Order: sequence, then structure tokens, then C-alpha cells
Amino acid sequence: MTAGIGSSAPRDPEKDKRKRMDGWMVILNILWFFIVWKTINDQKMFSTKGFCVLSYSFSQKYPPVKFLSEKDRKRILITGGAGFVGSHLTDKLMMDGHEVTVVDNFFTGRKRNVEHWIGHENFELINHDVVEPLYIEVDQIYHLASPASPPNYMYNPIKTLKTNTIGTLNMLGLAKRVGARLLLASTSEVYGDPEVHPQNEDYWGHVNPIGPRACYDEGKRVAETMCYAYMKQEGVEVRVARIFNTFGSRMHMNDGRVVSNFILQALQGEPLTVYGTGSQTRAFQYVSDLVNGLVLLMNSNISSPVNLGNPEEHTILEFARLIKSLVGNRSQIQFLPEAQDDPQRRRPDIRKAKMMLGWEPVVPLEEGLNKTIQYFSRELEHQANNQYIPKPKAARMKKGRPRHN
Ligand SMILES: NC(=O)c1ccc[n+]([C@@H]2O[C@H](COP(=O)([O-])OP(=O)(O)OC[C@H]3O[C@@H](n4cnc5c(N)ncnc54)[C@H](O)[C@@H]3O)[C@@H](O)[C@H]2O)c1
Repeated sequence: MTAGIGSSAPRDPEKDKRKRMDGWMVILNILWFFIVWKTINDQKMFSTKGFCVLSYSFSQKYPPVKFLSEKDRKRILITGGAGFVGSHLTDKLMMDGHEVTVVDNFFTGRKRNVEHWIGHENFELINHDVVEPLYIEVDQIYHLASPASPPNYMYNPIKTLKTNTIGTLNMLGLAKRVGARLLLASTSEVYGDPEVHPQNEDYWGHVNPIGPRACYDEGKRVAETMCYAYMKQEGVEVRVARIFNTFGSRMHMNDGRVVSNFILQALQGEPLTVYGTGSQTRAFQYVSDLVNGLVLLMNSNISSPVNLGNPEEHTILEFARLIKSLVGNRSQIQFLPEAQDDPQRRRPDIRKAKMMLGWEPVVPLEEGLNKTIQYFSRELEHQANNQYIPKPKAARMKKGRPRHN
């Protein structure tokens, strides 16, 4: 018997199943092909002699960025841009609409500090050590690359010296080649243990050239000298910011600086360690104030050094008590022997910045401390989830590691 028109042949369920499977396999293959193609297209990774460039462009949401016309948009290099201050400066310049290239060797900086910009068309991150020359085209250079806290810069004093001397020479050489303006992140440490108080920019300082801090203090002093030699001899436009103690989110939790030590100790319910009697004074500025000052200085016509800091002076003991009360726990205060060459008094005279830049700190100390405490709590949570509990470091180091590079 033959089947009539319209009658259907008996269906083979096995064949149907295979057909459906084939269909799914085609869809999956297309999907897989698309993912592979997109990944290769989006992640460009290449390396050249001396440094490696990473650039990602995953579609992600970035913080809001102003639009600047070609004429107003600058190509800005930030050395040390993945560090504490550098990453906040990166945020400001990116949000202002500039093209920012961050150069960092990640000695104390972290990719995490700038990861929210990775892939943005105005942003580039270069893993590079400033001790090696760098060849790029830029209009402005913020030269921040240098370890900044005593345990970090004493860890490898020779490297600290190289970074501040050879690294600064390289950046000045770059500025000269491409006609860029360079701002040096100098430090109040150029005043050493000061004999005048408060310190104004005309004071030449009181530095022990062979003490444990000399690699940093003298490194920054010679970096300033280099800036002015390049300005006078080669006509390079330079700006020098003498930065006083700064704090805020993304500062290193266990770098041995007063604010980070106290907050970490208070949050972990440990005694707050005060070196000496605690009567030595410090003045702390919040990081957003510093960043505003750096940008104003860069875009000003002041080529001589300018102090950027908060003149509100407190004893270390007052800081310990304030942080203890803001964190709200019962930590004790423990007194330890005084650190060598620890300056007794430090307070910036900021009249020059006020008069010539119209700049002064605006963030109240308690507000800044509260924000920093919140950041440290989140970091502790994050690290606890990753099984890592940081310990505050001593403000001085007895032994450096015998590592020279
Ligand atoms: N934070 C302060 O209180 C303070 C005070 C005075 C001066 N400063 C100056 O400001 C700058 C930034 O300080 P910070 O507190 O952000 O410190 P930080 O350690 O967080 O940042 C320094 C950055 O420089 C990078 N770096 C170090 N050596 C490098 C090298 N050879 N090549 C490339 N990158 C290198 C580090 O990896 C890090 O990302 C430093 O120059 C410091 O001397 C800071």
C-alpha cells in the first residue's frame, strides 16, 4: 500500500533529535566564535623593549567625563599614577576630559586604583619603570613616581635614589624632547627636621645627608635641582609642588604612616602606637585638596616651588585620640621609642599658594578622616574575604633588604 497525498511518513524520533542537536550546535558555535573574536579584538597586548602596554576595551560604565574640544584637551602623563595621590589625580584629569597616560612600575601602586578607567578611550596604563627612558608624545607631565612612605623608600634606598634622580632626569629629558611642561611632586621632607616654623618656600632645610631618610629627602632635593637646571639651561617649563602629609582613600593600609597606622590599629582593636612622647606635630591635608592644588599649580605661571599642605597643626597624640574616638573603640595608646630623624614639627606656610593660586585646603580634618576610616573598613572586609589581614608597619626600618636594582 502507498501513502496518499497529505499523509505523512512515519517520523523518526532519533533523526528529529539529531536535527535539533545540530541546530543548537550551530548556534553555540556562532556564539563561541563571536566571544573569541570579541576578546581578541578588545584585548590588545603588546610589549616593546623595556615596557609592556596593556589596553582593554570591554564595554563598561565609566565615571562621567566632560567633553573637551581638541584644542582644550591635553595629553597628560602621570608617572606613579597607580599610587595613592596619582590615582586621585588620574580621576580628576579624566573627569575633566583630558587624555591620561599612567606610567607605573607597581612597586607601591596597584592596578585596582585605576581599574575603573581601563578601556576608556582617553586612558592608557603603561607598566614601566621611570629609571628607563620613555618615548611618548604628551603636553604635560605630572611626575609622581617615587615611593613615599618611610618603610617603602627605606626598603631599597638605592632604588629610591635612582627613581628620584635617573627617573626625574628621564622625565625632564622627555619634557624637553616633546616641549611638555613638567610638575615635580616634591615633598616637605626637603626641609628635613626644620629649624624654622612654619616652613615657607624660602627655607633651605635641615637634612641629614647620611641618615636613614636621606635616600628620599636628598633624592627629592636633587630632583628639584634637576628641574631648575633643565629650566635654565634647556628652557623646560617646570612646576615644583612641595607636598606635606596627605591622607585619604587608596592610601596604603600598612605603610607605616601615622594616619594609616592609627586607623588600622583602631579598626582592629589594637593599641595605637605613638613613637616618642607624641608631642611632635603634623598637619594633614585630604587628598582631594592636594589634587586641586596640583592641577592649579600645573596650569599657573609659577615656576618656583610652592607648598601644598594643610596648616592645621596637631600633636601626634591628638591625632591618636581623635582617630580612636571616630572609630569608637577602646584601643589603648602605646608609647614606643622615638624614630631616628623623625621631624619634631611640621607645618606648611601656604601664603604663597593662597596668594598666587587662590588655593587652600577646604576639607575639614574630621570629614577626611571619616571617609578614610570608611575606606579602610571596606578594605579590611575585602582582605578578610581573601584571607589576608594587614599589620601596621613600624615607622622606621632597622634593616633594609640587600637588593639593588
Ligand atoms: N602622600 C604623601 O603624604 C606625600 C607627601 C609628600 C610627597 N609626596 C609625593 O607624592 C608622590 C606620590 O606619593 P603617594 O603617596 O601617592 O605614594 P604611592 O607610593 O602611593 O605612589 C607612588 C607611585 O609611584 C610608583 N613608582 C615608584 N617607583 C617607580 C618607578 N621607578 N617607576 C615607575 N613608577 C614608580 C609606585 O608604584 C606608586 O604607584 C611621590 O612622589 C611622593 O614623594 C607624597
